[in-house]
Amino acid sequence: DTRSQNSTMPLIYQLASIGLLLSLISHVAQSGSPDSQQLSSQCQACSAIAAAFQRGLERTARDNFGGGNTNWEETRLGTYALSETRLVDITDRLCKDKDNEMDGVTSSECHAMLEKIEEDIEKFWFGAFKANPTSASLRDSVCVNGTAACCAYGRWGPECAPCPDCSGGRGDCNGNGTRTGTGACDCHPGYSGAQCSDCSAKYYRANGESNGECKACSPACRSACTGPLATQCDQCADGYETVQQADGAACVDIDECQTRSPCSGPRSFCENLPGSYRCGDCDRACSACSGPGQVGCTACSPGFEPATTGSGCQDVNECSPDSPHCTGPYERCVNLPGSYRCDCQPGYQRSGSQCVPKPAASSKKSANSKQTKKGQSGNKKGKPPKLIWTVAYTIEFAKFFGAIVGLAVFAVAVKGRPAPVTVAACLAGWYLCKQSSVLDRVYLHAGRR
Ligand SMILES: *[C@@H]1O[C@H](CO)[C@@H](O)[C@H](O)[C@H]1NC(C)=O
Ligand SMILES: *[C@@H]1O[C@H](CO)[C@@H](O)[C@H](O)[C@H]1NC(C)=O
Repeated sequence: DTRSQNSTMPLIYQLASIGLLLSLISHVAQSGSPDSQQLSSQCQACSAIAAAFQRGLERTARDNFGGGNTNWEETRLGTYALSETRLVDITDRLCKDKDNEMDGVTSSECHAMLEKIEEDIEKFWFGAFKANPTSASLRDSVCVNGTAACCAYGRWGPECAPCPDCSGGRGDCNGNGTRTGTGACDCHPGYSGAQCSDCSAKYYRANGESNGECKACSPACRSACTGPLATQCDQCADGYETVQQADGAACVDIDECQTRSPCSGPRSFCENLPGSYRCGDCDRACSACSGPGQVGCTACSPGFEPATTGSGCQDVNECSPDSPHCTGPYERCVNLPGSYRCDCQPGYQRSGSQCVPKPAASSKKSANSKQTKKGQSGNKKGKPPKLIWTVAYTIEFAKFFGAIVGLAVFAVAVKGRPAPVTVAACLAGWYLCKQSSVLDRVYLHAGRR
């Protein structure tokens, strides 16, 4: 008993360590190979560069060394068409090509890829391209053979396996030209099957040929049909019924609104649609309706009246000149959809039920309120008051100064006679006292502003 326990324990340890080892290996393998997202973006970047290279070839096709290929240049440099000069002209602009952005390749992805394949491009230029300028493909040489970022077109996946035949353009090979994908055919609308050679449900084979185009059945058909018409359905779709017509049985839309009034509620309407129906709410102008909007009304809500032109209901203008609304003094009628409102005329405000003039002072106050606020907050920027104050202060100060000068002139003029000078000095003193208090007031007034 003890012995068998001893031999099972190591077995468990062995199994556990093997499991650990396996998970480790698979982890290393995973982190070693780039994920499919990365693979597909590398192929995208390389393909974008190859496309830009092709455009560069077209752009420089008629160029030369810049003065025609002279004999000297041809013997010393070769022709421009196969020269390093042209290669540089093209490669300089590969990642600046605006079309690269449209391929979903960012500028940094492009530059990273270009750095990787720059040497391969040069090898291609002096090798495959020089040997066969018309048919050599940069994508095949560099993106497929060189970096192995892509597969050749017609191949897919990590091993670049051949794509299935997707019925000559009726589907696309998933992963075509890349090292990712499923290798299955993604069929275009109307086609199905592994190679997109069958017609999908609700499509029929045109021309009756076994490989003819697949075209859509009438929407009236449930599944299969023999042609595009509603008379060619195998079965009718939901919301359609078989009706015998002159040219045979056809699938015809059922008018659910007529057959079973499915939209209940007093302010709703029913709209028949192909194969179905829709319930909608009446416009507020309607108390009953048969369709959307004001034109759909069959009866009008209060505040609305039957439309004078066309069908439906329109707003009643309660504010028409002969209306009895808002007739109080200084009242003004404002028409609203379905109702109206009585406002006061400009310059008047409501006091109880009456419109009364707005107080004049309060209107002035509101006009001045900004300045008052500014003054209170200690901001003396108010320009007109400051200007007025400056002028006033200057005038008052001139009077003050004039009185002193006047006294001095008088004193000089009546020199040596003390009585008039004393009287004049007293008068001047009185005036100066009065004037200084005026100056004080002007000054303080401004200070408070
Ligand atoms: C890519 O490599 C294969 C095999 O080495 C070769 O047959 C083929 O010609 C190469 N294609 C290009 C475009 O270089
Ligand atoms: C793969 O892509 C190429 C280039 O776009 C195209 O010519 C070819 O028909 C495609 N092949 C398949 C099987 O989708």
